[in-house]
Amino acid sequence: MPTVFITGANRGLGFGFVELFLRQGWDVIAVARDPAGATELQALAKSKAGKLSIEQCDLADFATIDALGARLKGKPIDVLLGNGAKTNNPAATVGDTNYDAWMEAFKINTMAQMKLAETFVENVAASAQKKMFFLSSRIGANPPAGMILFRSSKSALNQVVMQLSLLLKPRGIAVACAHPGFVKTKSTADMGVFTVDESAAHLKKIIDNLSLENTGQFFEPDGSTLPIVTRQTNPTAFGAKAPDAWNEQQKVWDKQGQQR
Ligand SMILES: NC(=O)c1ccc[n+]([C@@H]2O[C@H](COP(=O)([O-])OP(=O)(O)OC[C@H]3O[C@@H](n4cnc5c(N)ncnc54)[C@H](OP(=O)(O)O)[C@@H]3O)[C@@H](O)[C@H]2O)c1
Repeated sequence: MPTVFITGANRGLGFGFVELFLRQGWDVIAVARDPAGATELQALAKSKAGKLSIEQCDLADFATIDALGARLKGKPIDVLLGNGAKTNNPAATVGDTNYDAWMEAFKINTMAQMKLAETFVENVAASAQKKMFFLSSRIGANPPAGMILFRSSKSALNQVVMQLSLLLKPRGIAVACAHPGFVKTKSTADMGVFTVDESAAHLKKIIDNLSLENTGQFFEPDGSTLPIVTRQTNPTAFGAKAPDAWNEQQKVWDKQGQQR
């Protein structure tokens, strides 16, 4: 049976994913910041012995990610699901930005996701399905105003996902991110339009269909895509001569199988 690794697995969408993957017969590594306090997970683990294991890791403390990497060394992970995030970010208006909170949002929502990818890349490479999937947000890709801290941390995550997809494609690993929809969880004060089960089901289909053909995409819950970044301007446009450095870099990208 394939194995999924899910962060933020103790509640909200993460817990919904745990239940869904288990229903579909997967082995689940559920990662929580405080396993002892994860009562629903603990109860589920009792009835799913051998299928569900609970692991500790605080995404704000990279030593705990390293420790988890050491504990899981050699274990194939078919899907690395980066779901856990700092979602209760204070609103920022010009004049009262909380820079400590912003730093924490970047650490957890952006850098820790890269750290997860780096720590578990060999586990994913050793699996049959070879996928990494990260929970982003539409507001990280779209213009409407507000929530600067959360929004920018997810915009940066989108860029991390794009880069990971390019860098890991030669290793056969597909990487993508998605907006889960507006989901009824603690982070939305249960005001969302999707239930956790509905959102998890939509996203699971996207994960099932993720491949090297559609790697590097930002998915909407219905499977459509939003652009992460616009194409970089080609310096040869408008008849200009490309600098040698650009041509050399282009050869490196071509060799790595990256698309421009
Ligand atoms: N719900 C929505 O409408 C919506 C919309 C757009 C994007 N998303 C994204 O979807 C994902 C899940 O959202 P959600 O609504 O389920 O969020 P949520 O209810 O706020 O749950 C967040 C999860 O992340 C964990 N987490 C937070 N900080 C952590 C840390 N430092 N280390 C480890 N785990 C940590 C939480 O654990 P604790 O219980 O220990 O805090 C919790 O399990 C997030 O990436 C979110 O940004 C959600």
